[in-house]
Amino acid sequence: MGKKILISQKIPKEAVEIARNNFEVDYNEDENPLPPEELKKRLKDKNGIVCLLTDIMNGEVMDAAPNLEVISNVAVGYDNIDVNAATERKIAVTNTPGVLTDTTADLAWSLIMSVARRIAEADKHMRSGKWKGWGVMQWWGSDVHHATLGILGFGRIGKVVAKRALGFEMKVLYHDAFRAPEEEEKALKATFVSKEILLKESDFVSVHVPLMPETVHIIGENELKMMKPTAFLINTSRGPTVDEKALVKALKNKEIAGAGLDVYEKEPVMEPELADMDNVVVLPHIASASIKTRTRMGTMAAENCVAALKEEIPPACVNPEIYKK
Ligand code: GLV
Repeated sequence: MGKKILISQKIPKEAVEIARNNFEVDYNEDENPLPPEELKKRLKDKNGIVCLLTDIMNGEVMDAAPNLEVISNVAVGYDNIDVNAATERKIAVTNTPGVLTDTTADLAWSLIMSVARRIAEADKHMRSGKWKGWGVMQWWGSDVHHATLGILGFGRIGKVVAKRALGFEMKVLYHDAFRAPEEEEKALKATFVSKEILLKESDFVSVHVPLMPETVHIIGENELKMMKPTAFLINTSRGPTVDEKALVKALKNKEIAGAGLDVYEKEPVMEPELADMDNVVVLPHIASASIKTRTRMGTMAAENCVAALKEEIPPACVNPEIYKK
């Protein structure tokens, strides 16, 4: 009998085609996740799933599919998948690293520029018809050029954010569990510092860590207190890396100058007070959303899934140990 793939939500047509060209596909062409019971039901006779970060893939869901061989996430982050549970069941877990690095770094930069120069707020003012003409005392913001950028999490995306900072002649500090090789630090003009120094000295703190138990609330009340009152927090990683309630408090108490957020602790909901803060730019988790990148993420996920079902080691497998004999 041929193998079957479930595509859990709407994905780029090029990706659906790859799956259909190789295996029988059950496609939920909807832009919302299936309720858990429905997901389990549709997964029952499947060998592979191409899913999104809004699909919760825990052990219980995996147990509903006794023939499941691969869970292929259309995302680089895979905190929606219980990887240990998958590994125990010899199910491959795959993601889409690399293809979204530049696009995500671009968005982190869009947020840096937006919060510094009050772009969203000024746009709103212009549209409201309230602008009375140029004035030297208006719309002062903060300089990005020659400022200090603190990058928390110096993986693929963090490093490209640093690369972009070269053009703005910034001082770049970074902190990570692992120090980058010296040549890379030199090329990026990035200095390894403790998390504390990074928080104390940066004008912009940009978070680029993956979400894991050690990084939940890596920015909390204490960290926000260490930041300068003139500094901005940027988050394009995962919402739970920042304690959102503590962030609201810090913004209210003017402990920091503002924030640029693409991700939230309880998506799609954000702390409601953020909506009323002019010094905050909020985006609906769009960091990788360029036409090219989202298409490539979809095709890469489909390729990962197809490879696994053809008994090959998928190009981007996060638990390759399952293939060790
Ligand atoms: C998006 O957030 C991703 O992890 O790819």
